[in-house]
Amino acid sequence: MAPRVDNLYFFLLAISVFFSLLIAGLIVFYAVRYRRRAPQAIGTNIHGGLWLEVTWSVIPLLISLVIFVWGASVFFAMSRPPDETLNIYVVGKQWMWKFQHLDGQREINELHVPVGRAVKLIMTSEDVIHDVFVPAFRVKADVVPGRYTNLWFQATTPGRYRLFCAEYCGTRHSGMTGEVVVMDPTEYQAWLSGGSGEGSLASAGEKLFQDLACNTCHRPDAQGRGPVLQGLFGKTQTLSSGDTIVVDEAYLRESILNPGARITANFQPIMPAFQGLVSEEQLLQLIEYVKSLQTQPQGLSK
Ligand code: CUA
Repeated sequence: MAPRVDNLYFFLLAISVFFSLLIAGLIVFYAVRYRRRAPQAIGTNIHGGLWLEVTWSVIPLLISLVIFVWGASVFFAMSRPPDETLNIYVVGKQWMWKFQHLDGQREINELHVPVGRAVKLIMTSEDVIHDVFVPAFRVKADVVPGRYTNLWFQATTPGRYRLFCAEYCGTRHSGMTGEVVVMDPTEYQAWLSGGSGEGSLASAGEKLFQDLACNTCHRPDAQGRGPVLQGLFGKTQTLSSGDTIVVDEAYLRESILNPGARITANFQPIMPAFQGLVSEEQLLQLIEYVKSLQTQPQGLSK
């Protein structure tokens, strides 16, 4: 993404420089060319110049339309991650970044990613608004408490890149920095397999699912008092209000913290709220567990 952002940026810079020089140059040139030559001289009154006015309206219009279309295309490319991404969860908190890989690795203020692979960060905050900013990748996005925001990038060169918090978030905001470590795919695999021990995010979620007794109501056989979760993620669900919703991370999150907000059609609002009872990390584990549940019986394995 960086060359695309840079090209647009330098185009804007070139346009600004060109017109600044043109205008400043013309001011000086006309001041000299049409200076008062005799003390009594009086300037001629001129009323309008149609072609001149059309010209200085149409040219800037065309230029700004080019900037608009160009800018929009870069914006859409930045805000739409590809279908196949490596997903990593990010939790911001005063004043650190916590990264959670699906395989179970957790890291603080350091994010390891493979080179040449589209990476999607699914981000939330434990307290106030933070903002992930990796200048070298030209990507930046707010990290907001109570919701998930996304940011994606594809690193092209191995190395270490600075990561900043770009939203004033309290006393030690300026210290809320980190590094993105871009590695060769083989090194990345080696890194992933080293020193995990905790099991995958989904398996941690499965354990939590049982510890919190979610499994007593959410049973795979449709006999439970809660909706079946197998194959639920990504599906369109009908709600008791008659509306429909696509089951995504945000909906799962809401349904755990505040189950009464949007009830699945034909179910009673009997689930207790888990607001304040599960941490952001535990929420991510539960969500990842629900995402891992396939429709039963499972078909061909991928
Ligand atoms: Cu977090 Cu500034």
